[in-house]
Amino acid sequence: MDPRLSNDGKLACSSCHDVSTNGATRSSAMVRHDGSNAPFDTLTIFNSALSFRLNWEGNYRTLESQAESSLENPANMATSVEDVVSRLNADPQMVRQFRAAYGRAPDRSSLLDALAAFEKSLVTPGSRFDRWLAGDTAALSAAELGGYEIFKSFGCISCHQGVNVGGNLFQRQGIFRPLVHAKPDVVRVPSLRNVAATAPYFHDGSAATLEEAVRKMAAAQLDRSLTDDQVTALVAFLQTLTGNYRGMPVKGTPQ
Ligand code: HEC
Ligand code: HEC
Repeated sequence: MDPRLSNDGKLACSSCHDVSTNGATRSSAMVRHDGSNAPFDTLTIFNSALSFRLNWEGNYRTLESQAESSLENPANMATSVEDVVSRLNADPQMVRQFRAAYGRAPDRSSLLDALAAFEKSLVTPGSRFDRWLAGDTAALSAAELGGYEIFKSFGCISCHQGVNVGGNLFQRQGIFRPLVHAKPDVVRVPSLRNVAATAPYFHDGSAATLEEAVRKMAAAQLDRSLTDDQVTALVAFLQTLTGNYRGMPVKGTPQ
């Protein structure tokens, strides 16, 4: 949340990744440093520590290397690790806190480790689906379980799977029909945890609602045309993937 992480002291990571709502923002365009249109919809920072690669393109393997790229990206923080380290070293209280945690003043590895360590705390357990998996059979309604059955039998689960219900594979987007025209054609499958709170959808943010995203997914990835009832059931299931951060359910961003 510290704006010293950006070149002009105006942006913090939390400007785009608001942990009091969904770990993202509705649009990153409004806060981008250079005023340009964001090429990618803002990914939520929640549960990112559980994905096997980071970013839509999956081009980073560790939170530390992703954080360094966020700091150096001219459209994000537009600064450098070295500059941030020297700003922090100018603040005696910050130096004291780093000494207490790392035994030394802020440096490259302690700065990146501090960011990554905080990000690892941004997990959202306790969704109703998690509770159901843990044996609480009353946690899901019949309609939600019906959606889970479709999720499995139609094959959504072949791509959205594992602890993050996604985030562990690369896949082509738009297999049977075009999905998103903008590159890349191959992306890291997104996690569906908290998906009901993270509209808009797809890497270009082109689907405004979960209903639209689900319908397009079935057509583009599975060559299926869903009935309205099937869409309703799948969306009901996806809504059970909303977890808790610091004891409060993850909220969507204000419209
Ligand atoms: C101007 C808005 C903006 C700022 C500021 C910003 N981010 Fe991001 N963040 C994004 C966008 C957009 C993406 C998706 C980028 C992509 O896929 O290439 C993203 C992706 C991420 C991801 C990957 C999530 C995943 O599931 O793969 C992490 C982690 C992350 N940011 C952490 C940070 C950290 C740490 C900072 C501060 C040093 C930061 N971000 C600052 C907009 C921002
Ligand atoms: C062949 C792999 C594959 C299958 C099968 C698949 N998906 Fe996806 N899903 C993806 C990929 C890849 C994306 C990201 C596409 C993009 O933005 O470029 C995605 C994105 C999504 C999103 C948007 C997530 C976000 O945060 O933007 C939702 C919702 C979703 N899928 C639900 C489903 C449902 C429901 C099904 C079954 C009807 C399904 N998916 C089947 C690979 C798949």
